[in-house]
Amino acid sequence: MRIPIVLKVNGKEHSIEVKPNEILLNVLRDKLHLIGVKYGCGIGECGACTVILNGRAILSCQTLAVSAAGREITTIEGLVPEGNKELHPLQEAFIEEGAVQCGFCTPGMILSAKALVDKNPDPSNSAIKEAIRGNLCRCTGYINIIKAIKTGAEKIRERSKR
Ligand code: FES
Ligand code: FES
Repeated sequence: MRIPIVLKVNGKEHSIEVKPNEILLNVLRDKLHLIGVKYGCGIGECGACTVILNGRAILSCQTLAVSAAGREITTIEGLVPEGNKELHPLQEAFIEEGAVQCGFCTPGMILSAKALVDKNPDPSNSAIKEAIRGNLCRCTGYINIIKAIKTGAEKIRERSKR
């Protein structure tokens, strides 16, 4: 059995058919080719599959595609408008602060950070730790990641004054 749904991803609508038990992660990667969404554990433990759904960071491996129908989904590919060559301030900050090594956790980490700073533009270290507590990084440790989110939030605040 297949169910027709419309997924709104990064501002674009996609009419597709999914199985009732198909997870959002697989649909984003395999049907929409948004491979910035990473398959890590598949059981809700690593955060690599994080996307933003209606403003909240969620685990796409734990979300049925049918339940995301009609809601706004943002993946790392949609962080800056298409055609814009600049990186998002959080992406810039991750590079500047040395918060990326293999990069596998980075899309999920940045999307968790974005969901946070959209609501809390000047987050404390403890708010940042809380926001990324479900995102595991096997490479960098977390000090530079926390610094990067602080720096990225500062950059966003600066840019909003221009
Ligand atoms: S792949 Fe979703 S939490 Fe690990
Ligand atoms: S940079 Fe490699 S898992 Fe985080």
